[in-house]
Parts: sequence; structure tokens; C-alpha cells
Amino acid sequence: MKKIAVMGSGNGSNFEAIAKFFKDKEVDITCLSDNINAFILERAKKLGIKHQYLPFEENAGYFGARNFDLIVLAGYMRVLPEDVLELGRFVNIHPSLLPAFKGKDAIQRAFNAGVKVSGVTVHHVTNELDGGKIIAQYPVLIPNLMHYDEFEAEIHRVEHALYPKVIECILEDKVFDFSDLYDGCGGCSGGGCGGCH
Ligand code: GAR
Repeated sequence: MKKIAVMGSGNGSNFEAIAKFFKDKEVDITCLSDNINAFILERAKKLGIKHQYLPFEENAGYFGARNFDLIVLAGYMRVLPEDVLELGRFVNIHPSLLPAFKGKDAIQRAFNAGVKVSGVTVHHVTNELDGGKIIAQYPVLIPNLMHYDEFEAEIHRVEHALYPKVIECILEDKVFDFSDLYDGCGGCSGGGCGGCH
């Protein structure tokens, strides 16, 4: 049984996508939040998944005493220091094609900048904000006249399709293959997949 921790500070939609994906698989999930009021903890409770509030200052002690196969950041809004990062293997998801639009509100900033292609990146975590080597990226096109809400929804659909698959590959020591995302897909015309899952 593989053990992962999913850490988030807010809404937790990526956590929920991960939890549902691994539901009947041999992966034990612990949900952690640095925000005691975060909705991610509510989602974990509803899904029957172990969860706890973990203050930022207690990360080193917590991870020093445990052995996770992977620590998954999903909307965790603080930069972790080196002494914590060396206690495990950390990955993160970011809603842009890094290195473009690092930091907060990346979806809105990419849209406002008028770029025609943005997307989603899964990457290794370093103590640099949204830095670290890229593991997988998936584009989302922004055609003329696309509404912001539609773009934002598409980014989240891609996140929820991409992140669990990439995590599974890492846990199984496999190379991520983009054809994994098309399992059961009837084919779609947009730039970002996930809409038909
Ligand atoms: C996601 O869009 C994630 O990519 C982003 O926060 C959101 C969390 O949503 N992360 C970052 O911007 C990291 N710099 P969620 O809580 O519903 O999963």
C-alpha cells in the first residue's frame, strides 16, 4: 500500500479529484491543511479520508516522523522551506504553463494578458515559488471571444484529469504518457482534455 499526503489551503477540488481517482486503489491518502477552516478538510471528512489541520510551523516535525511515498501539494499557498522539502518527495500543480504566470491568480493573469495558450503544469517542488522541474504540462487554448468562466472551468477540468494520472505514474515508477489522459475518450476538438471524463 502506497502512502500519500495531499496538502491544500483552500477549496480542495484537486484533492477531491485525487481521492476519487484512488478510491478503490491501493493508495492510502492523508489530507493536510495549514488552514483550519479550509473547505479541503470538509471534503476529506465527507469522503471519509483521514484529515488534519497542520500549522505551517509544524511541517518539519510532522514529516520527520512519517514516511510518505509522495507529498502532493494541491492549492497549498505557502512556499515550503528546504528543511521540510528534504523530508519527502513533493510535487505541485499550477494552473499555467510554467515558467509563465507563477504565483497567485495565475488563471486570471494569463487570461488578462491575452495569451492564446495557457494550461496546467505538474512539477517538482523547490523552495522557489512554483519553481522546480516540470513533470507534465497540458495546454488549454484561449480562442478569441472565449469567456473567462469557460477558460477557468477548462483549466480546472484539465487539472482534475491530469494530476491523479501523474501521481499514479510517479507512485508506480512509470513515465507519464499523455495517451493515459485519453482512456475512454471519444475525442474532442479543444486544446484541453478532461471535459469528457
Ligand atoms: C488550483 O487551481 C491549483 O492549480 C492552484 O490553486 C488551485 C487550488 O484549487 N495552485 C496554485 O496556484 C499554486 N501556485 P483547489 O483547492 O480547488 O484544488
